[in-house]
Amino acid sequence: MPRSPAGDRGTIVMPVTLAQIDRYLVENADRHLEELKAFLKIPSVSADSRHKADVARAADFVMSQFRAAGLDAELVKTAGHPICYGTWLKAAGAPTVLIYGHYDVQPPDPLDQWTTPPFEPTVRDGRLYARGATDDKGQVFTHIKSLEAWMKVAGTLPVNVKFVIEGEEEVGSNNLDLFLEANKSRLAADVAVISDTSQFARDVPAITYGLRGIVACEVTVRGPNSDKHSGVFGGAIANPVNALARMIAGLHDDQGRITIPGFYDGIPPMSADERARLAQLPFDERQFLSELGVDAGWGEAGYTSLERRWVRPTCDVNGITGGYQGEGPKTIIPSSATAKITCRLVPDQNPEKVVAGLEARLRKLAPPGVKVEFRTWHGCPAFVFDPTSRYMGAAKKAIATGFGVEPVMIREGGSIPVVASFRSLLGLDTLLLGWGQNSDNLHGPNEHFHLADFRRGTRASAHLWHELCVV
Ligand code: BES
Ligand code: MN
Ligand code: MN
Repeated sequence: MPRSPAGDRGTIVMPVTLAQIDRYLVENADRHLEELKAFLKIPSVSADSRHKADVARAADFVMSQFRAAGLDAELVKTAGHPICYGTWLKAAGAPTVLIYGHYDVQPPDPLDQWTTPPFEPTVRDGRLYARGATDDKGQVFTHIKSLEAWMKVAGTLPVNVKFVIEGEEEVGSNNLDLFLEANKSRLAADVAVISDTSQFARDVPAITYGLRGIVACEVTVRGPNSDKHSGVFGGAIANPVNALARMIAGLHDDQGRITIPGFYDGIPPMSADERARLAQLPFDERQFLSELGVDAGWGEAGYTSLERRWVRPTCDVNGITGGYQGEGPKTIIPSSATAKITCRLVPDQNPEKVVAGLEARLRKLAPPGVKVEFRTWHGCPAFVFDPTSRYMGAAKKAIATGFGVEPVMIREGGSIPVVASFRSLLGLDTLLLGWGQNSDNLHGPNEHFHLADFRRGTRASAHLWHELCVV
């Protein structure tokens, strides 16, 4: 049963304690920022094997932060990057919260587009610029620092805490499920909390009740056994880059619908209710497009931008290589071409089925005279939670305090693989409480985290631990 954090004295002690915690966070804000900068200096790029030692260093940093906050810390080795597991389990009878985040970051490329280097954290205009500032080191830090505040001020936490901070989220969390499966009872909790999403807009905080899933694949088209003179051989053999371009173009029809066989199987039509709810959000299409620097939207016919981003699936090329990429002209039939392709999935698409359909479709679209190789990097299903659960109510109150305004309920288009695993392996629902902004340029150059969001998120986090006990 949930109970008041301070037991029978709760009604008297709590308001004082929460005010003291708020004050502690204000008084320690500068130090917290400096510590976050030290975290951001570590180039923990999980996709790049040259950064393996840096990724390990970031894990050690998280471990030392756990200990400094008063948590017990254990570094869990995996076949890939380690998992940082931190616990504090002394709130007998109080709920147990499983907090998840990731200390790995995306590659910082394109490097020449950063105003200040990605791993030299810099404050400009009230924003902290660095790779990982918002995704996800800065957001992870809000929870570590709110727990530190509780421990320093109250000497205790109102909830039991199990903290899982992993180092492979940006490469698909391929080793995390093994850890979850092997530690089901140890990881038992009442609810999971993740801050790795975004607010709906500036000063419009949000609780995210659905995320899309993903499958990430790579296709390589091979032609002649090496690059060949395009005058001597061109016209008589298939050009792998031309072929790949045609294959990619064939993945959509003129209505923006995806032509992979069985792709839309199992997807329920949007309910009128949800359509109405999304339509009510304060979304400005023109501003959305102008912030992206494009003059028109694009997508599946019959859906709004928000519906296309949150409720409908996609198929996108992330990168394409093949042939000569250097300066000046060169006349060749390239020997091969490769494309990295991801599909964003919605409930109830099956990732394996989508991958099989994508491979079949690409092979069918390939012209004679080329060989097609296909591989899968990672995948996870989509999910939607009940937006009215009692834990959602606790999160709403905490956010209203931290941000000074009630959150809206949203879905998001990005993916966090662990959320579906928490449901299927641990039977847990997740509160997705994003403190960032989609305009923070996560995954791109000049990624940043607003200092105001860092502070407001940390305060909301501190209040959440209290609110979870009183629902
Ligand atoms: N934090 C993001 C996911 C996100 C960002 C969700 C903003 C909603 C709003 C996460 O780190 C991420 O980038 N996930 C990857 C998935 C992964 C399997 C590579 C993604 O969505 O591309
Ligand atoms: Mn993230
Ligand atoms: Mn990310």
